Amino acid sequence: MDAKYFVMALVLISLAGNAWAASPAPVLAEKGMVVSDSREATEVGVAILERGGNAVDAAVAVGFALAVTHPSAGNLGGGGFMVAHMADGSTFTLDYRETAPSAAHRDLYLDEHGEVIPGLSRNTHLASGVPGSVDGLLRALRDHGSGKLSQRDVIEPAIKLARRGFPLSRFLASALNGYCSTFEAHPGSRESFIKSNGDPWRAGDRFTQSSLGKTLQRIAKNGPDGFYRGPVADAIVSEMQRGNGIITHADLAAYASKYREPVRGTFGEHEIISMPPPSSGGVHVVQMLNMLAKLSIADYGWNGSDYVHRLTEVQRRAYADRAEHLGDPDFWDVPVTMLTSAEYATELADAIDLTSATPSVEIDAGSAAPREGNDTTHYSIVDQFGNLVSVTTTINLGFGSGIAVQGAGFLLNNEMDDFSAKPGVPNAFGLLGNEANAIEPGKRMLSSMTPTIVLKNGDPYLVVGSPGGSTIITTVLQIILNTAIHKMDVQEAVSAPRVHSQWMPDVIAVEPRALQPDVVQRLERMGHVLEPRGKWGSANSILINSRGVWGAADSRQGNSFAAGY
Ligand code: DON
Repeated sequence: MDAKYFVMALVLISLAGNAWAASPAPVLAEKGMVVSDSREATEVGVAILERGGNAVDAAVAVGFALAVTHPSAGNLGGGGFMVAHMADGSTFTLDYRETAPSAAHRDLYLDEHGEVIPGLSRNTHLASGVPGSVDGLLRALRDHGSGKLSQRDVIEPAIKLARRGFPLSRFLASALNGYCSTFEAHPGSRESFIKSNGDPWRAGDRFTQSSLGKTLQRIAKNGPDGFYRGPVADAIVSEMQRGNGIITHADLAAYASKYREPVRGTFGEHEIISMPPPSSGGVHVVQMLNMLAKLSIADYGWNGSDYVHRLTEVQRRAYADRAEHLGDPDFWDVPVTMLTSAEYATELADAIDLTSATPSVEIDAGSAAPREGNDTTHYSIVDQFGNLVSVTTTINLGFGSGIAVQGAGFLLNNEMDDFSAKPGVPNAFGLLGNEANAIEPGKRMLSSMTPTIVLKNGDPYLVVGSPGGSTIITTVLQIILNTAIHKMDVQEAVSAPRVHSQWMPDVIAVEPRALQPDVVQRLERMGHVLEPRGKWGSANSILINSRGVWGAADSRQGNSFAAGY
């Protein structure tokens, strides 16, 4: 695209909203902080912390609250990842990603000619993996909660929000109205998300969800069995039968969240603790930081052409590896050690041409790899004891499959689209995959979600993560760089406009105001293709330093809210 038109396109997108203006100060608190995509959910979390609960108690309560107040992404019918660093120095990463139902198979979304059937993995009953959120959240509470708060204590605020309702924000009212025709097509979605008189939702309308309230009540009473067995499981299976879905009672009863070994890396004085496979996020953030360290990235000014060139070259190499090597580690030998090693980063970084773009078609995944054993939401929590929790959770695309379970009030995910339906055919985020991420019964689909914790000289420093599909990983990378080397405060680091590339398609996606016109021109002369992009993830983050705990709600999402105490 001609540089002049490119800059004009960026201006137009920025006028349409989602622009970065001078960022306000982050929210400062003395003891603890919660930052999420919903004011009500954040307030639920702060109330738990004020009662003496720890960050895990609060994370569980916020997770259930988001299932009520942020239905496009918060969920009971999806999955997520939790990364925590506890005050005693221990760390855990919990994987409650959805699994492929037992009747799923590699060619599930192909027609008789072997071609992908459009939409099948996105907006049908076949699009859903077996949900993991309820098992994961309750496991975290059981194993890492303070012990002061019961299952009921942390779910009760969500039950109240569902039963009594809450005033719709302008943002949520318009999101619900935007999906009206999808909701109309499914009785469960109609009963939960369409106004009873059929009118459009307006800001300030009280939004109640009685079926969801009953489901939450059952979970509060019976724990995971309140969801994976009994009436809620029956409702999920009936919903499946209504639309030729394949999740069975046995699939639900068999679901189990899993602890994984965190991915770790270092970047100068910073230690990175992040989510391992079945997320690709942690592996590639560490891999890219390793390469950037070799390329002396700290010597270059923020978003100048040399800086963005290095970011892009590093990103395209990481995403090429993602397509080839990443998948569920229970089914595929993911070479985590090799991908996150300094030696491999040196090999890749040495091959980067520092003056011109390497076409992505010339980049292959590291073949020497030794084999070894839109919608998502991110929230960050820090408590008074020094525990840090980073959670990203998703039903995949906005409002998931669009199909809510009739009588149970929650939306089903369309996470199956994160599998590679067929080698060479991109998913909704343009991501390619291969054998490593092929569909198999019981397997977890590869994710980009990157809940991450950064320590600085061994002390808690940053809690970060984001929604945004394939852009999640590069968003987390840039926020780490913005704080670690550009010394931005956490709000500036989160608000700063971003760039993203992912190997294929071979373009740099650019947020409005991310690049000055002369930088655009220089990058184009180096052979890069730039493309304006309007939608980026809401990376709700927290930074801790000697002055206190600083929360940054990302204004890219209308309802994000930081509060501390
Ligand atoms: O797990 C993943 O990578 C995707 N399902 C995340 C989807 C997402 O971030 C959509 N949100 N904006």
